[in-house]
Amino acid sequence: MTRFAIAFVLAAAIPLGNAVAADDAEHPAATEFKVHPIGHIKKADDRMLIVLDKKYLDGLLGLEQWSHVQVIWWFDKNDTPQQRSILQVHPRGDPNNPVTGVFACRAPVRPNLIGLSLCKVLAVKDNVVEVETIDAFEGTPVLDLKPFAPGQDSASGVKVPKWAGPK
Ligand SMILES: C[S@@+](CC[C@H](N)C(=O)[O-])C[C@H]1O[C@@H](n2cnc3c(N)ncnc32)[C@H](O)[C@@H]1O
Repeated sequence: MTRFAIAFVLAAAIPLGNAVAADDAEHPAATEFKVHPIGHIKKADDRMLIVLDKKYLDGLLGLEQWSHVQVIWWFDKNDTPQQRSILQVHPRGDPNNPVTGVFACRAPVRPNLIGLSLCKVLAVKDNVVEVETIDAFEGTPVLDLKPFAPGQDSASGVKVPKWAGPK
């Protein structure tokens, strides 16, 4: 896969009041971060694989001891200025769902095209992690892997909007 760098641009936001203005003084108005894909999604037959670049192999040490991994990836098929400018959608593409901000749903369009999927780990072999399933397309760039740690990654008293609840 061709290697490339993805620049995250945090643009200056609409002024919201004194607290935000004070914050702005401490942080630059615009900052770029370079993120390099560590691998990509490969879907072969019925198998779903995260294929890491070999140079990241050492980073997989111990992952086989975890049952689940959070996969952070890039919605590369939507990487256009137009799609990155969308801030509100009907969640799940369903016009019956109320217009919702992209930071309040899991839309595949957003200013920074970061996808996050919680996956069951089936096997870790060499530079390949096999997962049960992932909702990213074949060839999707993978940015990071983090093991799912129930102590850190779960919450109590959870509420969700009606559109996201059970049907
Ligand atoms: C609703 S998004 C949720 C993704 C992830 N679970 C999240 O919460 O960030 C999942 C959809 O993104 C789309 N998708 C998958 N891979 C993509 C890619 N590489 N570029 C753009 N869209 C993609 C597919 O239509 C998939 O069904």
